[in-house]
Order: sequence, then C-alpha cells, then structure tokens
Amino acid sequence: MTDIKIIRTVKELRSWKSTTSGSIGFVPTMGALHKGHLSLDNPYTVVSIFVNPSQFAPGEDLDSYPRTFDQDYSILSNLKIQNKTVSVIFAPTISEMYPSGIDLDLTKQKGAFVTVLGVSEQLEGKTRPNFFRGVSTVVLKLFNAVQPQFAYFGQKDIQQTVVLKRMVKDLLLPLEIIVMPIVREDSGLALSSRNSYLSESLRSRSSIIYENLQECEKIYQESHNELTKDEIVSRFIDLINNEPDFQIDYISLANLETLEELSTIKPGQSAVLSTAVYVTENNRTIRLLDNIILN
Ligand code: PAJ
Repeated sequence: MTDIKIIRTVKELRSWKSTTSGSIGFVPTMGALHKGHLSLDNPYTVVSIFVNPSQFAPGEDLDSYPRTFDQDYSILSNLKIQNKTVSVIFAPTISEMYPSGIDLDLTKQKGAFVTVLGVSEQLEGKTRPNFFRGVSTVVLKLFNAVQPQFAYFGQKDIQQTVVLKRMVKDLLLPLEIIVMPIVREDSGLALSSRNSYLSESLRSRSSIIYENLQECEKIYQESHNELTKDEIVSRFIDLINNEPDFQIDYISLANLETLEELSTIKPGQSAVLSTAVYVTENNRTIRLLDNIILN
C-alpha cells in the first residue's frame, strides 16, 4: 500500500540520504499526529516521531504523552492520496538521540545541550524553565541527523519558532525554517496532541479561547489610534478567567522576533498576541496554547 521507510538509526538515515538528490523537507514531531502536523511540499519529506525526554520536566506527562505509532504511520501513508509524499519516518530510540544518556533531572544531565538565551525564558519558559533547552537540543540533533534544506514548524507553538529561528541564525545552520499556519478544529480550538486529554464537552467549551483572541484582533484592527495592551486584552482576561475550569497563565503582546513585551501598539505595527490557558478537568490540568499575529 505504501513505501514509506521507517528508519530508526542515524547511520541508516545517512545511507538513505546518500541515495537521494532532491531537497529534503523535514517535519519534526512527537507523534500522535493530526492535521496540524502535516504541511509538506518537498520531493523528499522526512517526518520524525520522537517523544523527546529532555523537554519534559520531572513530573510532567512524559510517560502518559500519547504514543500512537501505528495510527501515525497510517495517517502518513494516506497522505499519498492527497499527493503529498512522505519518504521516511525517522523514529529513533532515546539512546540513539542521547548517546550520553538523558536524565530528566537537570543536575544529573551529562553531555552537550543547546540554550538560546533571550527568547527561551519568558512565556512558556516561565512555567517550563528548561523546556526550550530540551527543544533546541533535540531539534539541532535532528537537523544534524536529517540535514534538511527546509524544516517546517507550526505557528501554534509560536515561541518555539522564534527560538529555533534564532538558533538557526546564531549557529549558522544551513537550512530555512518555514512556519505553517495554525490548523484548528471546526470550533476554532487549535489542534493539539494534548487535546485528547480533554472530554468532548470541555474541548468544545475551549473554543472560547480563539473566539476571544479574535475579539482582541478586532479591537486592534478597528482602532485608528495607538492602543495599550490593556485596552486590547482586558475583556479577554475577564471572560476567560470568569469561565469555570479556565485560568489564564499568560496573555502576551510581544515583538515577533525578540518576544519583548509591548505595552502599546500602533495601527499597522506587527506583534504577536499569544496566550496559555489552564483548563482543569477531573483533577487534571492541561495548558492550551493559542496565538494570533496582529499586523
Ligand atoms: P509536536 O507537539 O508533536 O508538534 C510538531 C509540530 O507540529 C510543531 O512544529 C508544532 O508547532 C506543529 N503543530 C502542532 N499543532 C499544530 C496546529 N494546530 N497547527 C499547526 N501546526 C501545529 O512541537 C513539538 O512536537 C516538539 O517540540 C518538537 C519540535 C518535535 C521537538 O521535540
């Protein structure tokens, strides 16, 4: 039915690469694939599926993170019908990616890690202090293994794209990062592998996040004057925090390249309005991320 190759080692990947000559597009994922993951337009596309331990803190959901390899494989196989072709699934083991081993406890870690200072500490980095160190490290390893010309990341995780673009620039990596738009459920909720933790009813109530981000965007677009951040987000904050089971972690208005917080915005000035919202159900709390680029 399909000829997607599953490759588990860097050595095998290199020998596959030596047989290809077109440009390689690369989509790094942690699996549990959904429509948001897949934006492919390269002759040779490599999708990696690797749940990366170093971006999970002790006590986070590393063990329970959804792992659905067979389903992922069939989703990627079916893409052929839409004329999008995945050539290789790179699904390495932990020891392949971390030859020196990897302990979730930072004080016990050994080996090489990548830190992108200045854009990793705020927003997501505040609640998850070593998250982007883990992401940058594994993505650099994956880039070294796959050696793509193009790498695709979703706007859904906007800070991740800022961090990784900065890494590519500062470490002089020979590839281009392409940011793909956010894919949403019909309700407007941004697709996420972790949405599977939510009941149907909470999932549908969660659409208030995007609905209200759009309201913020409307305020910005309809104004002919400079606005304060407060004027844009105060209604968002009230509406979400007054909703039972929902609690805002942050709502940020920031410069798109530096992630510096803006206290005001002028008409026509670009910025990213991003939010993380805690949603609690049956004593389990997850964070939903969403954002809109204002311009
Ligand atoms: P993961 O959460 O599996 O996401 C893989 C890619 O899919 C990321 O670039 C993410 O931004 C994108 N994505 C997820 N949901 C999306 C949506 N609704 N619309 C558009 N794109 C979406 O992000 C990671 O994995 C990891 O941090 C990784 C980069 C693989 C490093 O481990």
